[in-house]
Amino acid sequence: MLQTEILSVTTGASPAEQASLSRAAACIRSGGLVVFPTETVYGLGGNALDADAAKKIYAAKGRPSDNPLIIHIADVDWAEAYCCTTPLFYRLACAFWPGPLTMILPKRDCIPDSVTGGLDTVAVRLPADPIANALIRMSGVPIAAPSANLSGHPSPTSSEHVINDLSGRVDMILAGQPSEIGVESTVIQLAGEDVILLRPGGITYEDLCSLLGEEHVRVDRIVTEKVTGEFKPLSPGMKYRHYAPNASVVLLHGSEEAIHAFLQAHRCDPDVGFLVYEEEYETLPPARTLHMGKRNDPAMQAHRLFSCLRAFDDIPRIKTVYARTPAKEGIGLAVYNRLAKAAGFTVLDPASDAAAQIPVFPVIGLTGGSGAGKSVAADAMREAGIPTLDTDLVSRTVCAPGQPCTQALADAFGADILHADGTLDRAGLAARVFGEPDADKKAEKLATLNRITHHHILESVRDWLAAQRAAGCRAACVDAPQLFESGFDAECTHLLAVTADRAHRIARIRARDGLSPEQASARIDAQHDDAYFAQHCEILLQNDGAPEELSARVKEQLCSWGLL
Ligand code: TXA
Ligand code: MG
Repeated sequence: MLQTEILSVTTGASPAEQASLSRAAACIRSGGLVVFPTETVYGLGGNALDADAAKKIYAAKGRPSDNPLIIHIADVDWAEAYCCTTPLFYRLACAFWPGPLTMILPKRDCIPDSVTGGLDTVAVRLPADPIANALIRMSGVPIAAPSANLSGHPSPTSSEHVINDLSGRVDMILAGQPSEIGVESTVIQLAGEDVILLRPGGITYEDLCSLLGEEHVRVDRIVTEKVTGEFKPLSPGMKYRHYAPNASVVLLHGSEEAIHAFLQAHRCDPDVGFLVYEEEYETLPPARTLHMGKRNDPAMQAHRLFSCLRAFDDIPRIKTVYARTPAKEGIGLAVYNRLAKAAGFTVLDPASDAAAQIPVFPVIGLTGGSGAGKSVAADAMREAGIPTLDTDLVSRTVCAPGQPCTQALADAFGADILHADGTLDRAGLAARVFGEPDADKKAEKLATLNRITHHHILESVRDWLAAQRAAGCRAACVDAPQLFESGFDAECTHLLAVTADRAHRIARIRARDGLSPEQASARIDAQHDDAYFAQHCEILLQNDGAPEELSARVKEQLCSWGLL
């Protein structure tokens, strides 16, 4: 175990940072290992002219030694000393260096075999990052550097990732900003007038074509296909399963409607995580969902991808991550390639039979207006063995003293909506919202109240559903007067409303809450009418008779859904 020194560097410009860089350069020269930021991902560097340093790199990463390293130089002029350059090399260097492009050329003898994994070619890159450039320049030697992750982990795009993976395994870590690009450099092999794209990255296929012409750029099949068996890849690193979180990753590819329906059908499964576009993030459970950026922003997707893949390892229980398949244009090809590798190229079309076989956890949303008989229906569910959650109770628990929801309400409406003992003054809060004389302000206050409470209630409901599923229940029911207002209807597989004629409802409200007929009537008028429930729910049960009748009809409905 090494004593790893962590030095913070931001621009490398201040005297203190210059001193850090100078010590890091000395460490490289004396055969040590230094992690440094680059514009692509963090690199784990050692002197590329020192065979023993290369061996130390493989050991620190736990990486197979047949996987060759990229050598990083500080200026185009350095290249000639380490590889056999060609006019094409200079053309590419002139267009794309410094930057995220790695070129493979025949190596010179000064590069040890341990750096190239025994190959007679070497990969060369001139990074754009000023810290990387300064470190290489001050070292005075090319720096061999693979990505600074433990072998098999996603490449590190922040100093925290590096510290997690490599503390105690290297001499120094230069902790800088998060990597700008976020995926490793584009790797190309130079062959006469042509280039072969072995790993897509920040210099895109389109960039190469516009410089060289489409006829001179070939994409190796390893970029888009799963290769197995005896196939010997041109780039040894591409054959390893990389980038994978502990959960297995499955790419979703198919029609928009089918993908959307699939994601919604699996949202209550506690074993499932989602890696989606920012636009759909809010439709999925936040505790198990990450977004890689907007659908049409592949640069952001590249920037965020590896952090997301790492973050899934911190979410307990997840066994499968369903991920969107990014578009393959521009840097999107690199995002696709890394994600496809994380998935072992497993792709699922949600409209296929395989998708239909993945069990969905049935969630019944039960709703209806005051006095309609929802609680009788809820009890019938429970009698039938379907656990049923009363969201009125949940709304009380989330507003208990010290709860995040209670705090958020106090932040939004003023600390005086809490009693001295921290309990919520419900009447005071209601007065603040409903007593507001200005109609626009009142609507705004009500929206704020709902946004805060619905969010916390839903989180709690989702946790409860996950627990029911984990306990092996065949389905669960959520009794929610605010089913539609909270947006929870989108998370249910079945929607059932209970209604009753007005006279019955008024009588029940009066008997239960002691209201006058006018008050009961006003309450009913403030709620959705029957037409609304009929339009939005799969099933509307009329409850004008005895409770036993409603109970029997609920059970019949469960039978017809196959849940009883
Ligand atoms: O962006 C990057 O390239 C980062 C930063 C640190 O510069 N480095 C990086 O290195 O990603 P690494 O070792 O994780 O990936 C190097 C890739 C591997 O797929 C390796 O097989 C390939 O380049 N490679 C290196 N030398 C090669 C060679 N002589 N022939 C074919 N492929 C080679
Ligand atoms: Mg790597």
